[in-house]
Amino acid sequence: MTQPIYPIANIPHFKEHQALQNLFDFCSKDGVRIGLIGFNECAKHLVNLCGDAIIGFHDPAEWKTGITFRGKPVVSDTERLDITHLAVCDYLLAYDYADRIATFYGDAVRLHIPPRFGERPTQKIDPFTQEQIYKDIFAQADSAPLTMMTRQKLCFLMELLRYSLRLPGDVIEVGSWQGGSAWYLAKILSWNKEERHLYIVDPFEMHATSNTATMCNDEIERALAFYPGVKMLVGRANEKAILAKLSTCSYCFAHFDLTLQAEACKHIWDRLAPGAPFVLDNYGLTGAHPGRFERFFADRGCRIIRLPWSEQGVVFKHTS
Ligand SMILES: C[S@@+](CC[C@H](N)C(=O)[O-])C[C@H]1O[C@@H](n2cnc3c(N)ncnc32)[C@H](O)[C@@H]1O
Repeated sequence: MTQPIYPIANIPHFKEHQALQNLFDFCSKDGVRIGLIGFNECAKHLVNLCGDAIIGFHDPAEWKTGITFRGKPVVSDTERLDITHLAVCDYLLAYDYADRIATFYGDAVRLHIPPRFGERPTQKIDPFTQEQIYKDIFAQADSAPLTMMTRQKLCFLMELLRYSLRLPGDVIEVGSWQGGSAWYLAKILSWNKEERHLYIVDPFEMHATSNTATMCNDEIERALAFYPGVKMLVGRANEKAILAKLSTCSYCFAHFDLTLQAEACKHIWDRLAPGAPFVLDNYGLTGAHPGRFERFFADRGCRIIRLPWSEQGVVFKHTS
């Protein structure tokens, strides 16, 4: 068996000894020519340890394209290396980026992923940590307004919005509080370069009678200004002026985060594209009277899908 030129287990300032050992064993096989995915400490050690097998690197960070290390280049996603295998050196590139590069080369080039990086097995993927869209969005989450929703609920909400973007119409959220969940919806729209409106309905600053009423209209407007399609509709959902506005639009997606407001729900439901989701939060809380929601949708020939892990629910508009 090939021995590394220095002991992998003792490399200082480095955490991925196990993954590096696995990659070293893989790269030490006869006749392999490897493109590494990720230009990082792990990849540079591999060049030190088995340089003959390493042809170059693919890395999504544009500033790294063109760098060479011991003569091995970092190339862009569209440049081809003369390789037989790809090997992933970075846990955070093991999902969509590795798949994109592997697809670019086709079946002739095989992809190798170490079974784990540190404490993290690579067998089970967490797309909300690894997919580029979620990496970008969660990296900015410090600037998001407060939300009452957990990360798990927000992830599900964003996934449903992404699903809806193949349908025509605008996006609506009723019950936006400080704009937290709306920020995540707006980020999905912005990432996808959409131009649809995102309507957010809430009394906002006019609502002074609850101990959660800390909404500041100016603050919310500024926090969501990165997406020009955001339209704040200030008022109660069943108010005449709000209902009048709701009836001028059609929707590909609705998020309803408060107790049933039958008139508003009816206006939105009637204008929702066939196949589109109507997402409920709070739905499973007794205070929100789940039965009222269930009867509302049963009257329209639909059933709410309950989510076992939270009080969210989702109804898909029937297609005929
Ligand atoms: C559960 S919170 C919404 C949480 C928000 N989606 C988030 O990300 O944290 C419910 C919101 O519904 C609003 N609300 C209460 N009654 C309303 C009504 N009749 N019409 C519209 N919004 C209402 C409240 O002002 C509150 O901001």
